[in-house]
Amino acid sequence: MVCEASLPRHIAIIMDGNGRWAQQRQLPRFSGHKAGVDSCHRIVKACAERGIEVLSIFAFSSENWKRPSSEVNDLMGLFLLALERYIEDLHQKNVKLRFIGDREQLNPSLQQGIQAAEALTQENTGLTLVIATNYGGRWDIIQAAKSMATAVQAGELCVEDINETLFEQHLITQDLPAPDLLIRTSGMTRISNFYLWQLSYTELYFTDVLWPDFTEQSLDEAIASYQQRDRRFGGFLEQEEE
Ligand code: IPE
Ligand code: IPE
Ligand code: MG
Repeated sequence: MVCEASLPRHIAIIMDGNGRWAQQRQLPRFSGHKAGVDSCHRIVKACAERGIEVLSIFAFSSENWKRPSSEVNDLMGLFLLALERYIEDLHQKNVKLRFIGDREQLNPSLQQGIQAAEALTQENTGLTLVIATNYGGRWDIIQAAKSMATAVQAGELCVEDINETLFEQHLITQDLPAPDLLIRTSGMTRISNFYLWQLSYTELYFTDVLWPDFTEQSLDEAIASYQQRDRRFGGFLEQEEE
């Protein structure tokens, strides 16, 4: 178990490597995604047990539509199945679900499942689980800019009053703390259009472990690495330099 001092409040994860995990076993990519869902459930539970406030997981990016339609359909079907299978358990664990991303492009049954899951868990006070589905960091920034422009047009906002705090209030993550730790699995060392604005001062952690193989121990290793970092936010403490 990790030490409780300086636990990250918000962990964000780019869950990558399902396809390669399946390929290594000569299984269809779908098997990798199924194993990825199990991994997800394990890590959500582990974060709740460790007292993490917010866990954001990148489930489907706005660019993942570029994949073959059979894989996109498989993924959408799996999201709905996973929701139906785990929602009661998550609710019992006091987890609050929240979906971010452009919902309108998702199929109606998935949209309904999302709405029902959010409604069921909205009063829960434990871990906030943010599931990024059809999410892109650039989409988020554009929708925030549009929302502010609309407010200016309606005379509700003065251009002079736009600052970082106000901009953040228009992002889809408005009321959440910025991620303290970003984990990306599978050896890829890029952001792939996940949180762009939000990651300004996030500690980045990359591991070669493929997402379906990511365990509670892998999570603890990432948290332990985070706890050794010297976060400066552009400044420094005078006594550190002495
Ligand atoms: C991550 O695994 C899951 C999603 C992006 C939905 P991938 O499907 O990207 O797996 P690799 O990168 O091909 O191994
Ligand atoms: C990022 O993984 C998106 C998700 C994990 C949902 P990708 O596998 O889509 O990223 P790239 O294409 O390797 O950058
Ligand atoms: Mg990938």
